[in-house]
This record gives sequence, C-alpha cells and structure tokens, in this order.
Amino acid sequence: MARLRFLGHSAFEIEIGGKNILIDPFITGNPQAAVKPGDLHPDYIIVTHGHSDHLGDSIDIAKKNNATIIAPYELAVYCGNKGAKTHPMHIGGSYPFDFGVVRLTLAIHGSAIVDGEDIISAGNPVGVVIEADGKSIYHAGDTGLFGDMKLIGDRYKPQIALLPIGGNFTMDIDDAAYATKLLKPDVVIPMHYNTFDVISANPEDFAKKVGSAAKVVILEPGEEYEF
Ligand code: NI
Ligand code: MN
Repeated sequence: MARLRFLGHSAFEIEIGGKNILIDPFITGNPQAAVKPGDLHPDYIIVTHGHSDHLGDSIDIAKKNNATIIAPYELAVYCGNKGAKTHPMHIGGSYPFDFGVVRLTLAIHGSAIVDGEDIISAGNPVGVVIEADGKSIYHAGDTGLFGDMKLIGDRYKPQIALLPIGGNFTMDIDDAAYATKLLKPDVVIPMHYNTFDVISANPEDFAKKVGSAAKVVILEPGEEYEF
C-alpha cells in the first residue's frame, strides 16, 4: 500500500517503496500549508522547477534530514551550491532509486529563481513520473496543456495523475480535464488552485468536466489518499 498526502498547492508527501518522498514542498508562505517544515522527514525531495511556490522549503528540509534533492540539472546545481545533497537528472531521463524509478518529463512553463532583484536561470521545468511498488504516479509540475501528455499516458501509464487546474500560470479546469483524457489515469487529483486569488478554481467543476474519464479525488490540504 502506498500513501499520498496533499500538503497544499502542489506539495505532496508520498510514502512508497519504503521511503518518504516530498514533491515541491512549498510550506513557508503557503496559505494552504497543512504542516510545518519541521514536521516533514523525507528521504528524497523532488523539485519540478525553481519558482518559489515549488522550490519552497526544499533546501532547508533536505539539509535538516540529509535528504536528496532530485531535480533537473541546473536546479540541482543551485541546490547543491546551497549545501543540499542532490541527484541531478533531466527531461527524458530516468533513474532507479532505492524506492523505484523516477523519470522527468516535459513541462511547458518557466523555471527561474527570483532572488531579490536577480533572476537566476534554473534551466527547464519538468513533470515527474514515479514508478514504484507496481504503481505509477505522474506529477505534472506547473504546465500548460501539451499534446505529448498522450505520450506520457501511452508509455508510462500513470495510475494517478496530479494536475494543476488553477489557470493563469498553468492549465485551467478545461485544459486539465482535456489533459486527463490524454493521460488516461485511473485517478486524477487536482492541485495548484485556490492558494492565491489569481488561481481560483472550483475542483467540483473540474470533476464534472472530467466526467467518466477518471475518478477525481479532491483532497483538502493535510488529507491522505491510499492506493
Ligand atoms: Ni511555476
Ligand atoms: Mn506554481
């Protein structure tokens, strides 16, 4: 049995393959945050891109727990320079970790780190597919709708898809419902909505648009889902 906990915004904690894995742990400054950074004790932290609502507390949590940050190369170098243990990867690459295989995928978005008045390039943003314990989970990161989601669906067959629905910076409800049809997961969990006014969205409307294409599981921050 694997367990996934929604931490608010695009942050998830996943227990799979005997390890604790965080994705995009934006906790400090996250109005939806269901936990405190000190409550989290990951073995790995997967970071999809450099925006502050995804990189979040990754570096601090990684250092406190001796966890490994898995990120696209340029972002991994940045985190390494800040003292975190890292495993750099890149789009299309996969690696067999001790809990399962991590594969980075395309995401149509940006990835700069804004540090005061400086904008630091962190390379390309990514999505991620985790294959472990006979299960496959796709976290889309921040992205617009793109046709190769069909390829991700055909090739990696994610059972669970975590998709942004808030619009403005990413797919909105309509595009995320279309993405669900391309990805063909058993379960889709909406994320990246209602954290800020500009990404307001009603997940029940998303569920209606998805219809019978997948089971929509709407998680409140802090809520868990077992699979
Ligand atoms: Ni972003
Ligand atoms: Mn974002």
